[in-house]
Amino acid sequence: MRIRRQAFEQKISKEVEKMVNESRFSMTRDFIQHGDVSVFVHCICVAYMSCVITRVLNIRVNLSALIVGALLHDYFLYDWHDGELCRKVHGFTHPFKACKNAKEDFELSYLEENIIKRHMFPLVPVPPRYREAWVVCLADKICATEETLMGHCKGRKMEFAKELLDKNSIFEEG
Ligand SMILES: [Fe+2]
Ligand SMILES: [Fe+2]
Repeated sequence: MRIRRQAFEQKISKEVEKMVNESRFSMTRDFIQHGDVSVFVHCICVAYMSCVITRVLNIRVNLSALIVGALLHDYFLYDWHDGELCRKVHGFTHPFKACKNAKEDFELSYLEENIIKRHMFPLVPVPPRYREAWVVCLADKICATEETLMGHCKGRKMEFAKELLDKNSIFEEG
């Protein structure tokens, strides 16, 4: 059965709220990914795009793992534009840093780990092992391309990510 938009939006929203409360996820609001898009917004867009891909192609997935893996795929928690020498290899190393950080804050399944570690294929030339990891790898490239070319992501996913950004900023202050 195809997942409904409302259903996956609700699932992403719940997961983000939980991550903001129980981990360092809100730190990702302070780091820019591409264009004007923070890592926080980028990761929500990638989770959204991943759900859209599975819906359009009617792929059977573990939806919870898909969303968790997508939200944490760039959980490296530093500013990769800060000019530090080691950032020159950011493209190659950040999936492993993200996975290490994520494992400090969450109990990850092997599937979720694979989603995070393999999302930079083919730059990191080890392919994803699971359907979910392939989907996130593709969704990340679509979002990164939109962000690089236009400075933001297109359509409903960007709107949705901004809604969650507002909601979780208010939540923290209140
Ligand atoms: Fe990445
Ligand atoms: Fe990414």
